[in-house]
Amino acid sequence: MSTRRTRTIVAALATVLLAGSLAACGNSDTGGDGGDGKIVLGFSQVGAESGWRTANTTSIKEAATEAGIELKFDDAQQKQENQIKAIRNFIQQKVDVIAFSPVVESGWDTVLKEAKDAGIPVILTDRAVDSADKSLYKTFLGSDFVKEGRLAGEWLVEQTKTATGPVNIVELQGTTGSAPANDRKEGFAAAIAANPNLKIVASQSGDFKRADGKQVMEQFLKANPDIDVLFAHNDDMGLGALEAITAAGKVPGKDITIITIDAVKDGMQALADGKFNFIAECSPLLGPQLMELVKKVEAGEEVPARIETEETTFTQEQAKEALPNRKY
Ligand code: AHR
Repeated sequence: MSTRRTRTIVAALATVLLAGSLAACGNSDTGGDGGDGKIVLGFSQVGAESGWRTANTTSIKEAATEAGIELKFDDAQQKQENQIKAIRNFIQQKVDVIAFSPVVESGWDTVLKEAKDAGIPVILTDRAVDSADKSLYKTFLGSDFVKEGRLAGEWLVEQTKTATGPVNIVELQGTTGSAPANDRKEGFAAAIAANPNLKIVASQSGDFKRADGKQVMEQFLKANPDIDVLFAHNDDMGLGALEAITAAGKVPGKDITIITIDAVKDGMQALADGKFNFIAECSPLLGPQLMELVKKVEAGEEVPARIETEETTFTQEQAKEALPNRKY
């Protein structure tokens, strides 16, 4: 039986018992749908830190409208406490399904248990949690971040296979404690281990933001005169770093090889212009798949525990070809 129907029956019984009147029946809570029969989805978004995130939010809002799902959307401004608060509000409002993109990996068990106890299914999108109890959520829809980091590292290994001396790499990490920062770091490090000449000489968080990417790159450039490669965990930090590199009198894409992740339009433009050298794609267009899952879990159907997003990589030439049709 669907979660909404279960809660509707419980709510209706409670109403009859407590109020014992027809009028009260008319006001009963039918799973937060305001009485129009629509599935209600509570979605807690990380924030608006990057072009990727903006595209992801647009995809989710458009897909909800398209699917006839009522969306209660909350922007957590990159704070875990705001996400926990939003999830508790969704539970109180008795939404049918909760979905969220967790800002960091740890610390979700208590609130996820509260949702489970309230009979509200939870879907993870984009980012995972590190909870040992997998019954706390129905599925995780998103990218393989370790693979993205590995693809970035493998490209660099191929480009530098004839290098005879050290290749100095600086790394701009995403938000500390987030799944994409942890996983991309891990995947990249594992791949570059194939070439002992490749060395990460500095690695720091730029919080997935353009301004922070610029500021941290300025520090990297001051402390390390011989930077050969920048690996940025997203396009936005790479784009911020471009400004710092140019201001330091170096030519991005030539003096410093730049590898990023995401492939949003601005990043693809920098790649096509020769300022970036390689991008591993991370697709933000999760909305349509998410709405399908929402309908299924609300109906009590089984869904796969993990749904991986299909992604590719781009060289400068491939970016030139792909740019005119890029959706985000
Ligand atoms: O979780 C996906 C990551 O979060 C994207 O790579 C980044 O741009 C965003 O902020």
